[in-house]
Amino acid sequence: MLQVSDLTVVVDRKPILKDINLEINPGETHVLFGPNGSGKSTLLGALMGFDRYEVVKGRIYFKGEDITDLPVHERARRGLALSFQRPPTIRGLSMRDMISICSGGRDDVNGLASRLNFEQFLERDVNHGFSGGELKRSELLQLLAQDPDLVLLDEPESGVDIVNIALIGRTINQLLQRDLDIANHRPPKQKREERRKSGLVITHIGHILNYVNADVGHVLFEGRLSCRGNPRELFNCIQKLGYGECIRCAL
Ligand SMILES: Nc1ncnc2c1ncn2[C@@H]1O[C@H](COP(=O)(O)OP(=O)(O)O)[C@@H](O)[C@H]1O
Ligand SMILES: [Mg+2]
Repeated sequence: MLQVSDLTVVVDRKPILKDINLEINPGETHVLFGPNGSGKSTLLGALMGFDRYEVVKGRIYFKGEDITDLPVHERARRGLALSFQRPPTIRGLSMRDMISICSGGRDDVNGLASRLNFEQFLERDVNHGFSGGELKRSELLQLLAQDPDLVLLDEPESGVDIVNIALIGRTINQLLQRDLDIANHRPPKQKREERRKSGLVITHIGHILNYVNADVGHVLFEGRLSCRGNPRELFNCIQKLGYGECIRCAL
């Protein structure tokens, strides 16, 4: 689904990511851990193709195609999507119109919104005056409408209260064809081998791991991907030892 080789990214002439190698297979969900400022959002932004992130070395392949030089909308058309850590407000565009655009006019907007208890926000401007949790639900609703093959989620749980985090977790599992509710120990509806959707999820606080049963975890430290392993084991290690100590085992 995604192959990143030797990706080196510069922001405002400052090198942020160094020689990143990453491979995500169809049906896999990977989690990216890392301290503040390590370059997590930069990695997702570079994959999506935002022009403030300058790729100075390396390539990005999506479904076998080199997308390194494609503009954002061409990547989106091919099935790549991102939810922002801090989503922008768009004045003059209603949530209803935005969702309709995201789905290419295919979906029933009210039906989609009801899955996120979001009907009462449809006539408001995109993200205007939304609380932290409402912003994250707005982002996920746009993703549901887009139905991407690879979804990049930047800290989907940040600013979300305890009630809505379960809803967010459930929606992410739907997006990733992992309609299991691991909190309730139910088996997945979708068999692993039938699953095609993939994800890359940034988490700083790890809460999302209680809801999304990710396959692989990575640690990004000072712009380098330092290790790869079982997401829960990595998270426990980071909690116990901190990032600096945790990555020592990989050095
Ligand atoms: N426009 C910019 N100019 C200079 N440095 C930047 C700019 N944008 C981001 N950075 C720096 O890039 C580093 C990585 O940022 P970011 O990818 O947002 O980290 P994370 O998401 O892991 O917290 C930080 O040190 C940040 O200050
Ligand atoms: Mg970030």
